[in-house]
Amino acid sequence: MKVDIDEAFAFARKLALENGEIVKNAFHKPKNVDTKSNPSDLVTETDRLVEKNILDAIRAKYPTHKLIGEESFVGPMSITLTDEPTWVIDPIDGTSNFVTGFPYVAVVIGLVLKQEPVFGVVFNPILGEMFTGCKDKGSFLNGEKIAVKSTKDINNSVILSGFSSGRNYEHLAKVRNNLESVLMNPAIGIRMLGSTACAMTMVAAGRADAYFGARFHIWDIAAPSIIVTEAGGVVSNLAGNELNLMNRQIISACTNELINDIARKITPIEIPDPDGKLE
Ligand code: IPD
Ligand code: CA
Ligand code: CA
Ligand code: CA
Repeated sequence: MKVDIDEAFAFARKLALENGEIVKNAFHKPKNVDTKSNPSDLVTETDRLVEKNILDAIRAKYPTHKLIGEESFVGPMSITLTDEPTWVIDPIDGTSNFVTGFPYVAVVIGLVLKQEPVFGVVFNPILGEMFTGCKDKGSFLNGEKIAVKSTKDINNSVILSGFSSGRNYEHLAKVRNNLESVLMNPAIGIRMLGSTACAMTMVAAGRADAYFGARFHIWDIAAPSIIVTEAGGVVSNLAGNELNLMNRQIISACTNELINDIARKITPIEIPDPDGKLE
């Protein structure tokens, strides 16, 4: 199936802008908040509205394309990523930030072809920052080209991290050990923004050196991955090997050397429930 990438990319940017406006307008207003799998796993009417708007628009324009959107997966559903053109949507990445008013939220839209992201759009409407990246065409922030830093080891670097809203204590213990392993080095610091997509774009734009963590989903990482790699950065799994979008873990960093340094110092976390078998 041949896809006009430039046209689809422009369409994705337009959808992100339009729906970002909805997120921005709702940001300072009272919200209807529901919980999903546990009390810290939040969803609002705006998450659902934005996802519906984006999926309806894509369905109308590309009726044969596959769609994966966070709020369409509820309960014990499984995700299948095929070789077909697949749009991967996170209507609001950083829902807890959206609810509490912390300005790291993004509308995230990516297109995956043959299991590889071909473009990604991460739009933070609160800060007015639109990050985009397209295969072989570079990455941009509001139309200006961006590039990663050149840091090669943990020392002197700012590392971002995060973990899922699921409160799995066995998993949290592993996360804590990995954060300690990184902090035992003279890294400048660790930051957690509460939005994987926003954090990865900080690496792409040279504002931070790396991001790592586990238990994310394909909609958290597909679009920002291509933005990082097209800005000259690298993505991998927690062992420093090839990234699999469905395996719920990532290191993204400005250089291969930094990925290897992080991978050497942390312990890979086995994810018992890859995206093919959502909990
Ligand atoms: C979450 C954010 C957070 C990450 C979680 C994600 P959501 O996405 O990206 O940074 O640590 O794993 O689930 O639920 O706000 O779209
Ligand atoms: Ca969520
Ligand atoms: Ca997300
Ligand atoms: Ca979300």
